[in-house]
Parts: sequence; C-alpha cells; structure tokens
Amino acid sequence: MATTIKGKAFAAGLRERVTAVVAELVTHHGLRPGLAVVLVGEDPASQVYVRNKGRQTMEAGMESIEHRLPASTREEDLLALIHRLNDDPAVHGILVQLPLPGHIDESKVINAISVHKDIDGFHIENVGKLSIGEESLVPCTPSGCVMLLKDQLGDLTGKSAVVVGRSNIVGKPVAMLLLKEHCTVTIAHSRTRDLAAVCREADILVAAVGVPEMVKGDWIKPGATVIDVGINRIDGGDGKTRLVGDVDYAGASEAAGAITPVPGGVGPMTIACLLRNTVIAACRQHGIPVPDGLQG
Ligand code: GUN
Repeated sequence: MATTIKGKAFAAGLRERVTAVVAELVTHHGLRPGLAVVLVGEDPASQVYVRNKGRQTMEAGMESIEHRLPASTREEDLLALIHRLNDDPAVHGILVQLPLPGHIDESKVINAISVHKDIDGFHIENVGKLSIGEESLVPCTPSGCVMLLKDQLGDLTGKSAVVVGRSNIVGKPVAMLLLKEHCTVTIAHSRTRDLAAVCREADILVAAVGVPEMVKGDWIKPGATVIDVGINRIDGGDGKTRLVGDVDYAGASEAAGAITPVPGGVGPMTIACLLRNTVIAACRQHGIPVPDGLQG
C-alpha cells in the first residue's frame, strides 16, 4: 500500500514558517505584509476559498483586505479597483478570485495587476519569466505540488513526470516547475492518445483535469508518486455529497509508492503558498532579502 503524503501537515508547517517570518518583518523592518483579495459575484465555492484565505492571512499576522463586489460589476470598475490596489503601499499581494462573471475579460483583469503584486503568478510577465527561468512569482498550487514531491522524493532529477491537464492555473506551470527540477516532462490531456499507457510511464504523476476519479489504479506504474490536484464534489449515494480527486484513490493506492489524499493533500498547500508568495512579494518590494525560512 502507498504512503499517504500528508499535505495538510506540510501546509501547517509552511504556515508556521511564514508566521515566524512575518513577525520578524514587523519587528525588524516595521513591515506588515498585506494581501488584498477581490471576489466578484456569489459563487459558493469561491466564497469559501475567500473566507479561508482571509482567516489564514490574519492568523499568519498579515493584513487581510477583502473587496466583495456584485456579479453585475462593470469591467472598468474592477480595473479601477485594481489600479488603486496597485498604488496602495499597504497592499503587497493582489488576488482576484477566478472565475469572473462572463462579461468581464479575465486576462485583461489579471494583466492589470502589478507584476510585483501578482501573488497568483498568472500575469503574462510572470508566466514568461517562469518559462525562461527568471525570478518571478510562481502559481501557488503548482508550487505546493513540487514542494510535496521534493519532500517525499528528495532530488527529482531525471524522473519521468506526466502531468495530466494543461490549464494555465495548474497543468502548464507545474510542468514548467518539474522541468526546472530536471524531470523529463510530458503534458497529457483529453486528446492524448492512449492516456493510460502514457501515465504508466510516469515516476511522478500529477493529475489536474477536474474529472472525478478519472485516473485509474492500473494507470499507475508500481511505486510511482501520485499528486492529485482534483477537488470534485460527487453524489455519495447516501443523500450526501463527498469530495474526491481526479484519481481513483483506492485503486491507485495499491500500485503507487506514495499518493496525496483528497481532501488533505494538495488543497491546503495552495493557501499556504499564497501566504508565502505575499511575504516574498513584500520583501522584494522593500529590497529585503527573502528569508531562508521561506525557501521551498
Ligand atoms: N480559482 C481557483 N483557483 C484559483 C487560484 O489559484 N487563484 C485564483 N485567483 N482563483 C482561483
């Protein structure tokens, strides 16, 4: 049976390190990092994420600034808010919760965020910097995946990594990060021919497709490390819903060497990495070297 990768515990440890660094910044530099989160509309899942982000930001000793806007908000008003946050010295990180309502151009909004405050790492300049290996702000869920992998496996050099999913939020950036760790990376997706056979080649399998339990146990190479990014709510058959990942956990655990559970695997890493990115952004904006405690 596979080892369970304890993302929840790792994320708690990372948040502790972030909290310690924040205390140091406040004491020695008079700098309290601030994170502004913008939520447009009333999507229930987004509301839960935003609430959790706000709570954990404050628990880490940082300033949490929330802007909740109605779904009818005009694009130009959202852009005006972003410009105000860009100019606000108390705000070091800006996150606009996605998805945005259909009448708003998502990429226009993302690229209006100052590249130095883009703690999601979605700005086109940060995406470009990541792809050519320059210092940037790196997307949170992908960073979290790679931290868990390095904690589990140590050096990733030469390993065969298959990423299932090609989204801008997870698939593409996690592939870039694995390449940076000297893995041999394949990006597979819904049109990949014989996906099962491609997955069976993977020493490291990252599933980020958003399809409940799509990756089956017999797709896993014996001993492989499986990172399940999916969070899907399905009918539990007992009148309740239940959370499952993109991997059939029971089947995959029989073949894998190690696997992240859902919930409690990758999920908690995202907010922990977001807090870390906010502190990194604040340090860079103030010319303070990023403390060792925040290294991945
Ligand atoms: N919606 C789902 N995941 C994310 C994320 O990582 N960042 C933002 N801004 N919105 C999201």
